[in-house]
Amino acid sequence: MASLMFQCFCFLVLYATLVDRTHCCPGKQYLPQKHVALFIFGDSFFDAGNNNYINTTTASQANFSPYGENFFKYPTGRFSDGRLIPDFIAKHAKLPLIAPFLDPRNHRYIDGANFASAGAGALLETHQGFVIDLQTQLSFFKDLARLLRRELGCKKANTLLGRAVYLLHIGANDYGVFSTTNSSVLSPEEYVNMVIGNVTIVIEEIHKEGGRKFGFLSMQPLGCLPSKRETTSKTGSIGACEEEITTLAKLHNKAFSEVLEKLERQLNGFKYSITNWYTAFSERINNPSKYGFKEGRIACCGSGPYRGINSCGGKRSVERFELCGNASEYVFFDFAHPSERANQQLAELMWSGTPDITTPYNLKALFEL
Ligand SMILES: *[C@@H]1O[C@H](CO)[C@@H](O)[C@H](O)[C@H]1NC(C)=O
Ligand SMILES: *[C@@H]1O[C@H](CO)[C@@H](O)[C@H](O)[C@H]1NC(C)=O
Ligand SMILES: *[C@@H]1O[C@H](CO)[C@@H](O)[C@H](O)[C@H]1NC(C)=O
Ligand SMILES: *[C@@H]1O[C@H](CO)[C@@H](O)[C@H](O)[C@H]1NC(C)=O
Repeated sequence: MASLMFQCFCFLVLYATLVDRTHCCPGKQYLPQKHVALFIFGDSFFDAGNNNYINTTTASQANFSPYGENFFKYPTGRFSDGRLIPDFIAKHAKLPLIAPFLDPRNHRYIDGANFASAGAGALLETHQGFVIDLQTQLSFFKDLARLLRRELGCKKANTLLGRAVYLLHIGANDYGVFSTTNSSVLSPEEYVNMVIGNVTIVIEEIHKEGGRKFGFLSMQPLGCLPSKRETTSKTGSIGACEEEITTLAKLHNKAFSEVLEKLERQLNGFKYSITNWYTAFSERINNPSKYGFKEGRIACCGSGPYRGINSCGGKRSVERFELCGNASEYVFFDFAHPSERANQQLAELMWSGTPDITTPYNLKALFEL
């Protein structure tokens, strides 16, 4: 009874003083030994359904059929026919699926949280008003860190935050809007540095909250997404990859690996894993059969010659769409996003990839640290 009252008291304090970081209850909630939580930041590649709970357009939502059909049997908000990369990482780490932070049914944060939002970028202006930008994802994480300090007490919360793995992948949407926003005033190099500068600040802020272990993916071959083949086909070169955005992705990858090496020297205890997604993804697009796929260029769901028009589900501006018979035969499920099977393979590379593809640690090693 006394313990229950104490917990209630802590909960009251928790709600009353979410803003006050200095005061900490001793915390009664149990933290299992060696428990490693998973926190997720990013865009549609990682969003497990946060955008279901914001006022946005269907363009950045996937909470309708046929999304989710092959695994969940209902649409969850994930941009795929089934699970995303973080879902497979959670499985490898023996954690449950990490729920969207904004899901009102979600009250269990001891395993981590997912803050990712489809359409989000590292820059505030990218799809502003329709997404949870990276800065806001960070502020949600800070709120949660405070809440954990209340629930668990500072000591256990700090242990949890320090042992946790932080997955972060963002930038594709910033690069997607470059040609229509900043390309007249900024060079590709300047723009990439601006994006990476923002990502770096967020990494540093997570580190300040106690985060030490980070998992990243290099930027995917953005010019070869079905959506890009569709647009280049307008200019006559049907199905070609788009050069301009591929250049941004390559610049990003070079600059980002340099930043990570620098952070490793500068930030106390900072450990990371980065998977060469550019190469892994390109190989599957170009040689699908080598990886057990039948099709690497055309998406399973959408419209246009490459099904690269964002119409899967018929709830967006284009209502007619085609759907393949078996999504597992396709690298892409829709205009930009991998099928569950492709996500599974990519997650495998993050989890246990050898140093030629995942360095300097793989995620399995980071979870065990
Ligand atoms: C949602 O967004 C639309 C379009 O921006 C706006 O007209 C509407 O008022 C918003 N609704 C809420 C509840 O914020
Ligand atoms: C990121 O970039 C935008 C400009 O788009 C800026 O307003 C914002 O404050 C930057 N900083 C962070 C940490 O996101
Ligand atoms: C980039 O574009 C956005 C949106 O059009 C604008 O608000 C911002 O000022 C631009 N940034 C620079 C550095 O020109
Ligand atoms: C779908 O394709 C995958 C991969 O080729 C195959 O393993 C699976 O059996 C297929 N499913 C059906 C229902 O045909």
